Amino acid sequence: MHIEQLTCALGAEVSGVQLADAIHDDGLFAQLRELLLRHRVLFLRNQAISRSEHVAFARRFGDLEDHPVAGSDPDHPGLVQIYKRPDQPLDRYENAWHTDATWREAPPMGCVLRCVECPPVGGDTMWANMVLAYQQLPADVKARIEGLRARHSIEASFGAAMPLDKRLALKAQYPDAEHPVVRIHPETGEQVLFVNAFTTHFSNYHTPQRVRFGQDANPGAGELLRYLISQAYLPEYQVRWRWSAGSIAIWDNRSTQHYAVMDYPACHRKMERAAIKGEPTF
Ligand code: SIN
Repeated sequence: MHIEQLTCALGAEVSGVQLADAIHDDGLFAQLRELLLRHRVLFLRNQAISRSEHVAFARRFGDLEDHPVAGSDPDHPGLVQIYKRPDQPLDRYENAWHTDATWREAPPMGCVLRCVECPPVGGDTMWANMVLAYQQLPADVKARIEGLRARHSIEASFGAAMPLDKRLALKAQYPDAEHPVVRIHPETGEQVLFVNAFTTHFSNYHTPQRVRFGQDANPGAGELLRYLISQAYLPEYQVRWRWSAGSIAIWDNRSTQHYAVMDYPACHRKMERAAIKGEPTF
């Protein structure tokens, strides 16, 4: 196995390995799991892996979950099809920095994304290290956000383009989730800046300590949230991956955000993603 770190922030390309072998090889799987915690995103090219093997490999980390809006492969539950076709309009939900499904009380712990087909150029995916983003925050901002919690909404994201009745039904099924603004990574104990495109507002900001007459004691909850969300946009925290058919990314969804770059003309881009169930953030 050869490991090549891709940026100073996160991401490593792993070569000399077939992920299908890790389905039955406990030692190989343990090595990959350890590498994932260290590098946060692992990339592998030229993977000869079937859909069943993709599911079986991801299931080594835990149970898989489907997505209420994006469809799954009917023959492989848990394998979400992120397919773009030439006849589709170029408006795409994933084109915002996000951590997957933080509108769930227990967002996925990680994902395994396989490229089936991609544009000849463009359509890369980027990831950001949200542990580093937290570490690099100015001390006064760290003090301001200590103890803050925030709401994450499927209604205001995937639901936004739906007619009212469908949007409200989606919200009834998936009420907004609340997470700490600084999450503790359950395996490494690291502090993670945990707000993203699904985050709508702080849920415990408006207290007498911060709000006296109007907002005068400590203004700007909205601005503070926007500032925190924008930290993922900094190139110093990022890695960018150029896809080819048969390449795979495995990411730790607890400590990263990602962004699918929508710079390509209308064409086929076929990605299949297994999302592994995570734990509540408390
Ligand atoms: C995702 O947002 O999980 C998918 C990323 C991609 O399609 O590159």
